Amino acid sequence: MNGRRILLVVSGGIAAYKVPEIVRALTRSGHEVRCVLTAAGAEFVSPLVLQSLTGNAVRQSLFDAGEEGAIGHIELADWADAVVVAPATANLLARLAHGLADDLASTVLLATRAPLLVAPAMNVNMWEHPATQANLTTLRERGVRFVGPDAGELACGWEGQGRLSPPEEIAAETGLLLGSLSLAGACVVVSAGGTREPIDAVRSLTNRSSGKMGYALAAEAALRGAEVRLISGPSHLPTPAGVERIDVETSLEMRDAVLADFERAAIVIMAAAVADFRPAEASERKIKKEDLAEDAGLQLQLVRNPDILAEISAERGNRIVVGFAAESHDVLAAARRKLKRKGCDLLVANDISRADAGFETDENAVILLTPDGASEELPLLPKPEVAARIFDRIEKLREDRR
Ligand SMILES: Cc1cc2nc3c(=O)[nH]c(=O)nc-3n(C[C@H](O)[C@H](O)[C@H](O)COP(=O)(O)O)c2cc1C
Repeated sequence: MNGRRILLVVSGGIAAYKVPEIVRALTRSGHEVRCVLTAAGAEFVSPLVLQSLTGNAVRQSLFDAGEEGAIGHIELADWADAVVVAPATANLLARLAHGLADDLASTVLLATRAPLLVAPAMNVNMWEHPATQANLTTLRERGVRFVGPDAGELACGWEGQGRLSPPEEIAAETGLLLGSLSLAGACVVVSAGGTREPIDAVRSLTNRSSGKMGYALAAEAALRGAEVRLISGPSHLPTPAGVERIDVETSLEMRDAVLADFERAAIVIMAAAVADFRPAEASERKIKKEDLAEDAGLQLQLVRNPDILAEISAERGNRIVVGFAAESHDVLAAARRKLKRKGCDLLVANDISRADAGFETDENAVILLTPDGASEELPLLPKPEVAARIFDRIEKLREDRR
């Protein structure tokens, strides 16, 4: 969709084992990726793995006649829309800062005019060394963009700054570096997770939604350059890079948060599993058995929650509103009825009776339905890939509307 060409330079740090994840995050966003490995980089990650993931030959040597004949180093430098160095060793930073061109990676880095994103990773003492810090200053002054390193426990056993940034963050920063992203300037609101409706001071009604699908959608919107507001029910998932997260508990709080951002939103995706009912009254104190008669049960009176999706669909104007339907049987027919009832632009239906998809899983198999009666069934895919396919569809709807 965003179809840009990324040259990924991999130098010889232990964090190179995370490079396949970086490649996947970049290709998921629609980018074509080619890799250059330094000799030390090839000690940590197999060229064969990177070749399989990118679908392109991996280049390692300046003087290999076969490699150079297939695509020359200057051709490679010119091919790239952006160059990402991840992980960047202290050594490669030094060579880059001083303009050395003593292997393929450094030569391509000197020859390219594409914007550069560098993700350093090293031992904390190497990072804090005045030589490394001086090299960083030089590179920053030259307009090189950096992501990380993060602080934490390091592979070498030390604690401190030096960890490679997470792959999704490197991909998101690459998106920002590329500038002209398909959703740049658009505000995208995504609701995620399940709501929690209090019964008393300790108990609540909730559901099995993990929030993974909504979080994947928020991450994808950020990769496409959108300003993203993620309205999340209780969840332990990390907030995706470039995403603003608003935590809520109840359906009523979720409604308030969605409406607060509705005005500026261009796209609203209701991926949260919002409770249809809530206890009519939540006791401020814990309801205790001994306060009830000996064999008495407890009756809970439930009242309906407002239907946020129907409400915003009716008021949507030019916005694209997307709903989700978790169905356990007769999925397509139930989803069609729901789409009609809610009046949104796109409904994403999933069959929660499948063990391998839906709630709490890392993969999902969904059907995309539009009001014109069309439906598209996607195969079982990891949730980030489902998110990318949903956004491809949303962007198509936006284009058609224009
Ligand atoms: C096990 C091991 C792990 C290493 N990890 C790092 C690292 O995380 N960061 C770094 O800057 N250098 C690291 N090095 C040192 C580099 O591999 C070394 O400086 C090498 O010359 C870098 O070459 P390159 O920059 O051309 O890839 C490590 C070396 C070894 C043996």
